[in-house]
Amino acid sequence: MAQPLASEIQIPAQLLPRDGRFGCGPSRVREDAVVRLAAAAPGYLGTSHRQPGVRAVVGRIRHGLTSFFSLPEGYEVVLGNGGSTCFWDCASFGLIERHSQHLAFGEFSSRFAATVKAAPHLSDPEVIESPPGTHPIPVAREDVDAYALTHNETSTGVAMDVRRPADASGLVLVDATSAAGGLRVDPSELDVYYFAPQKCFASDGGLWVAVCSPAAVERIERISAAGLWTPAFLDLKIALDNSRLDQTYNTPALTTLFLFADQLEWMLASGGLEWAASRCDRSAMILYRWAEASPYASPFVDDPAQRSHVVGTIDLDPAVDAGAVSKVLRRHGVVDTEAYRKLGRNQLRIGMFPAVDPEDVAALTRCIDHLAERLA
Ligand SMILES: Cc1ncc(COP(=O)(O)O)c(C=O)c1O
Repeated sequence: MAQPLASEIQIPAQLLPRDGRFGCGPSRVREDAVVRLAAAAPGYLGTSHRQPGVRAVVGRIRHGLTSFFSLPEGYEVVLGNGGSTCFWDCASFGLIERHSQHLAFGEFSSRFAATVKAAPHLSDPEVIESPPGTHPIPVAREDVDAYALTHNETSTGVAMDVRRPADASGLVLVDATSAAGGLRVDPSELDVYYFAPQKCFASDGGLWVAVCSPAAVERIERISAAGLWTPAFLDLKIALDNSRLDQTYNTPALTTLFLFADQLEWMLASGGLEWAASRCDRSAMILYRWAEASPYASPFVDDPAQRSHVVGTIDLDPAVDAGAVSKVLRRHGVVDTEAYRKLGRNQLRIGMFPAVDPEDVAALTRCIDHLAERLA
């Protein structure tokens, strides 16, 4: 019998997930949050970020994160505009003193290393690499003043436990862009946990947030006092001073702040980080168990301990074209399951952030089975 064309295949409505957004950022935004934004809009959107209405939202975010991550005494929540990419530049000016070590195991972790390598005032960083689908281990060295780890490498779906390298004296800077809010973390194991809210915090992009330990705050203040020229937009001391007043140095996107605060409070009310991480565990268990049992799908990351519970990467047998699967899913409103483009694999990448209902992940696997049967 002739194979149906991808453009002809239909997925029965009863198989479809209730919400079809599975992207890895921007990712699913809860409908309730959008409804509340619309209700708050007349007194909120279009008002000054220097006045109590908006500063109160920034305050809710800063205090909410302190409780969500159970931050030890002295840790501070700093924020600014520009997203995590901008924070790499901020860190190059205001956190790394001279020499950093980077674990590079995918697109994003490699980009921070490249940013530092290009900075003329810093020495060439030490870059420890490992093949896609794995992560390297940091190595304590006397001359390293900052260790750059990535809690979850969004491009490959590899997650690592965040731990200070034994006997390391340098700061531990953790890119938590896609991990923060969905993976468990112990803040005493790190000095800076930075992220943007378009993933687990189900908001829009354009903002960076950095949870800073007292040692990180001290580093920011010391570098600033030393007088190295820093563009004001990238100056962490300016960001710190503004954050303490519940504001950002320049105008933030008010929608981003509102949706961020709403998602954070939704997670806090549901049980906090442990609840959110358990929900991601459930989604991940559904996805990986399905792939392991499937005759044509398999988890890309071999070591179960390194498989991310927020970004699942699933390789498909060459007989089932992952691009065609994603295309048919997209035609049915199930979007952003495409693999990270530069990885170049016959793969699906599934966002399983806290806003995603594990039942929707189960429904997605049934849709993929339906398509694989017809496309193979
Ligand atoms: C791990 C990681 N780091 C950094 C970034 C860059 O974040 P932004 O787009 O907010 O600059 C991303 C974006 O997906 C990411 O996943």
